Amino acid sequence: MRHLMTPLDLTVEELDDLMDVAEDIKADPQRYAHVCDGKLLATLFYEPSTRTRLSFEAAMLHLGGKTLGFADASSSSAAKGESVADTIRVVSCFADIAAMRHFKEGAPMVAAQFSGIPLINAGDGGHQHPTQTLTDLMTIRSDKGRLSDMTIGMCGDLKFGRTVHSLIRALLRYENIRFVFISPEELKLPDYIIEEIRSNDKVEYKELTKLEQALPELDVLYMTRVQRERFFNEEDYVRLKDFYILDANKMELASDDMIVLHPLPRVNEISVEVDKDKRARYFEQVRNGMYIRMALILMLLDIKPGKQ
Ligand code: NCD
Repeated sequence: MRHLMTPLDLTVEELDDLMDVAEDIKADPQRYAHVCDGKLLATLFYEPSTRTRLSFEAAMLHLGGKTLGFADASSSSAAKGESVADTIRVVSCFADIAAMRHFKEGAPMVAAQFSGIPLINAGDGGHQHPTQTLTDLMTIRSDKGRLSDMTIGMCGDLKFGRTVHSLIRALLRYENIRFVFISPEELKLPDYIIEEIRSNDKVEYKELTKLEQALPELDVLYMTRVQRERFFNEEDYVRLKDFYILDANKMELASDDMIVLHPLPRVNEISVEVDKDKRARYFEQVRNGMYIRMALILMLLDIKPGKQ
């Protein structure tokens, strides 16, 4: 039985296979509409989420399966003091597969040790968010036709943004990747991520504060929201929240084929006028997120179309 806790739980070949299956589902959803008939996905969300939870639920429903779960800790037995270890043991009696989001770093990893069913980390604190990474990789691959040989800018809250941490980890395994990290001083990448990058001598990176300076050289710009819920005080948040705003003027500095990604939700960091720019790919990214989760559910349940 397999779990997905970080993107590194999958080999590069498995990632490629997953993206191929996701593209196949996207092209011919009908073929997959009943492959999970009779299967149940549990969504255990201890932290607010709209798109990730709905994306998991939509993924299972489009495969013919069903879902159950909770959307915040206060409506689960966690409010009574139950541990994630016990919760997952109980859920393993009802469901075939589960996705867990938790505000505490590492909580899904603890749960996985006690789980009787495949468990997917749907985001743990400021740590990792592997299914968002699958979504991001699929979107980059389908636009660029490759995941190697490119310059990727990541902008915003690089300190608390778990989607950034996961995506860096995954991209470190591809050839000829250059990173440009764009953040205010206070929101730079944590040391453990910098160490991971430094230990890979094939990858180049630089850290900047000005987005304008980075834009001309990027193939991909990954924008992020300042993670208000992980700040220790509101004043710091208010000071930093509008540090970057990508607008039509700034987009003029970028190349014609640079794509803009964002895990969403967006606050002010991408002005709505950018939405109509053909390089804005963040809504397509959301669509891809559902297809790649469908492919992941099939992989972890070892189901193939025609083999049920
Ligand atoms: C991200 C997350 O939860 O980390 N959202 C998502 O899953 N699409 C990004 C964010 O909340 O800023």
